Amino acid sequence: MEIRTDLYLGDSKNMLKKLKDNSVDLIVTSPPYADQRKSTYGGIHPDKYVEWFLPISKELLRVLKPTGTFVLNIKEKVVDGERSTYVMELIIAMRKQGWFWTEEFMWHKKNSYPGKWPNRFRDSWERLLQFNKQKHFNMYQEEVMVPMGDWAKTRLKKLSETDKTRDNSKVGSGFGKNISNWVDREMAYPSNVLHLATECNNKKHSAAFPEELPEWFIKLFTKEQDVVLDPFMGSGTTLTVANRMRRHSIGIDIIPEYYDMVREQLKPVALYILEPKPTYEQIEPEGRIAIR
Ligand SMILES: C[S@@+](CC[C@H](N)C(=O)[O-])C[C@H]1O[C@@H](n2cnc3c(N)ncnc32)[C@H](O)[C@@H]1O
Repeated sequence: MEIRTDLYLGDSKNMLKKLKDNSVDLIVTSPPYADQRKSTYGGIHPDKYVEWFLPISKELLRVLKPTGTFVLNIKEKVVDGERSTYVMELIIAMRKQGWFWTEEFMWHKKNSYPGKWPNRFRDSWERLLQFNKQKHFNMYQEEVMVPMGDWAKTRLKKLSETDKTRDNSKVGSGFGKNISNWVDREMAYPSNVLHLATECNNKKHSAAFPEELPEWFIKLFTKEQDVVLDPFMGSGTTLTVANRMRRHSIGIDIIPEYYDMVREQLKPVALYILEPKPTYEQIEPEGRIAIR
C-alpha cells in the first residue's frame, strides 16, 4: 500500500480544521518556544503562550484518535533570572481542555556544549510531554526495549530479600517491580529519559529534531500504516522518519520555505486536495499553495 505524505502550508490553528475528527494516531511536535528564535519565525511572549496554544491543542484533541498519543516537545526559558512558568500553566490549561496528561519524558541532550552562568548550570534537557485522550491508548512497549547492560551483571547478582519478594499488588504494576524477574534476561524496558544528541548537521532549520527522537515515539505508539502528524514540521524530521517507517504522515508549517523544502525532500507527496476538488479560487488563501 502506498504511504501518503500530506503537506499543508499555513497557520496550524486554521489548517488543522481541514483534518477529520479522530483520524490521527500520533502527534509529535516541537512548536516555537516562547519568545525564542524571534528572528527566524516570530516569537510568542511567555505571558501569551497558553492563549496562543489552546486553540491549536483544541484542534489536536479533535483530530487525535481515542487510542492516539500527543508528544509535545517544549522547554520554558529563563526570564529575568527565573524559569518561566508557561509550560506548567499550559499543562493545567490543557487538562481543563480535556487532555489526559499521562507522562513527562525527559530528552537529555547529551552533546550540549559547556558554558558558565552566574546563577545556574548549562541547560541540557527538554520536556517531552505525553498527552492522551483517555487512560488506555496504543503502546507497543516491546518495540523500544534496550539491552540489559553491564549493570545487570553486578546489580542482579546481589539481590536483597526485598528485591525478590516485593509486593506488586499494592501498586498494581504486576511483573515489573520484582527485580529478580529480570535475572538472565537480555532486554529490559527503557526509562522515561531519552539520551539523544541534538541535531548539529541539519543547517536547513535552526531547531531540527534528531531523527531518533520522533523515531522512538513512532515505534512506541504506532504501527505500519498508522497516521503521524507534526503541526509545526519545520524541516520535516517527523515526516521523513514516519515515511521511512511506513507510516502515513501529515505536516503543517507556516513558512513557505519549509513547506517547499519538505515537499522537495519527500516526493512523491499527496498534496492537500479538498473533496470535491475545488477550483484554485475557492480555496482559502492560506491553503492555495497546497494544490499548485
Ligand atoms: C521548533 S520548529 C520545528 C522543528 C522541527 N521539529 C524539525 O525537526 O525541523 C517550529 C516550526 O513551527 C513553525 N511555526 C511557527 N508558528 C506556526 C504556526 N502558527 N503554524 C504552523 N507552523 C508554525 C515554524 O515555522 C517552525 O518551522
